[in-house]
Amino acid sequence: MSLQQNRYHALAAEVQLQIEQRIWLPGDRIPSIRKMSQIQNISPMTVLKAYELLESEGWIYAKIRSGYFVAAHLNRLAVPQQSTPQMINRAIKINEHVFDVLKACKRPDIVPLGSAFPDPSLFPLKQLGQALAKTIKTMPAQSAVTELPPGSVALRRAIAKRYIRDGIDVSIDDIVITSGAMESLGLSLMAVTKPGDTVAIESPAFYGVLQTVERLQLKAVEVATDPQLGMSVDALTAVINRHDIKACWLMSKFQNPLGSLMPEANKMAIRDALAAKQIPLLEDDVYSELYFSENKPKPIKAYDEQGLVLHCSSFSKCLAPGFRVGWVVAGRYAKQIAQLQLMTTLSAAVPNQLALAQFVLHGNYDIHLRRLRRLLAARQQRMQHAIEQCFPRETKITRPDGGYFLWVVLPEHINTADLLPRLLDEHNISIAPGTLFSCDDKYKHCMRINCSYPWSETIQQALYTLVKCIY
Ligand SMILES: Cc1ncc(COP(=O)(O)O)c(C=O)c1O
Repeated sequence: MSLQQNRYHALAAEVQLQIEQRIWLPGDRIPSIRKMSQIQNISPMTVLKAYELLESEGWIYAKIRSGYFVAAHLNRLAVPQQSTPQMINRAIKINEHVFDVLKACKRPDIVPLGSAFPDPSLFPLKQLGQALAKTIKTMPAQSAVTELPPGSVALRRAIAKRYIRDGIDVSIDDIVITSGAMESLGLSLMAVTKPGDTVAIESPAFYGVLQTVERLQLKAVEVATDPQLGMSVDALTAVINRHDIKACWLMSKFQNPLGSLMPEANKMAIRDALAAKQIPLLEDDVYSELYFSENKPKPIKAYDEQGLVLHCSSFSKCLAPGFRVGWVVAGRYAKQIAQLQLMTTLSAAVPNQLALAQFVLHGNYDIHLRRLRRLLAARQQRMQHAIEQCFPRETKITRPDGGYFLWVVLPEHINTADLLPRLLDEHNISIAPGTLFSCDDKYKHCMRINCSYPWSETIQQALYTLVKCIY
């Protein structure tokens, strides 16, 4: 590294540290280039380079003719380090909110900031429709029987090929096709637990986790989860040492709702901690294709040496939302999961499986994914910018490297669940209140915002209304 590079990297690191230590708060203007060059006794060019680096990493942003400002990122949200055991039957109130938000999603007049679903116009619906029509015309009459669990061989082959391409050794016999990831996760949990058992889950967690745990009459321990690093390795280790944990359910990539992405070392440490006690891991990886980096981040499954990781995903978020086709790479649990599926929903819809197999193998799946990632990254940036502009400066938001959710942390006295009915009934706006993601109220001042939709005046107005209702 040249001397100038050394200097601007050092300055960027110094300013970043000051932001992390909250010396500079979101919205604050940092010293101008001229001022900083005087303070540091370095050239304006070196400061400019440092600021450009900080801007490219999302720490600051430039306003024309006004200077550089601290972005409203969520760098180190204080999460409870002490994990609290929770009886999941306290989740009933949560479910009611979930149904309100889901019901609101069906209303065409609603601004779907609370929706879990990506903007449907992002998907190649016409081509998928053509693939489906062709499949229905040509599929053998006995397909409904031949494609019973573990599911279509063609689709399992298409999925296995993609794992192998990612460097993960998966055979078609390891895979069970399901009706979306919700079913693959539910069946996996059923396979490794019995009613009354305790499982370790994230905090905050995707509400589908809470519902599934409740439905299967399990108990859950919420494990502290960091907005950047994902589930805390130390907290999980403490939990599995203290409780008789029968399974762990987490997302190593683009966690819902935080968007966290686990560093590789943490993925391995989680694998080791669980493997030491032979605890199966349900890895929910539904956002795996929605990464913004150049290379696809690996799941924990990539490091699984003992076959303890059940890797669950689907096409719902990346290709075909309504098709309800997902899968689990279940390895040693595959037979049991296929049998559980035969006893519950029988099988995933056969024409949908076959049409997706065709599309993934012969359609332009990768071209579609590249476009999708580009659009989602741009839309996320636009939404972050808008929130930074119109929410008060104490607001913190995450800056995920994938997916389409932002986690917004408001001042502690605000209760987003209380706001929801008014937002829905009077303003036609949905949000996902923080209370959806835990058994108690600890995230009541937070909300998850869907940023997959194209920017519009309607969304802008909805944000203004949101701010007015909150403050
Ligand atoms: C984290 C997470 N897991 C699983 C699912 C369910 O996926 P699917 O629609 O494929 O059942 C969702 C859907 O919102 C999700 O956000």
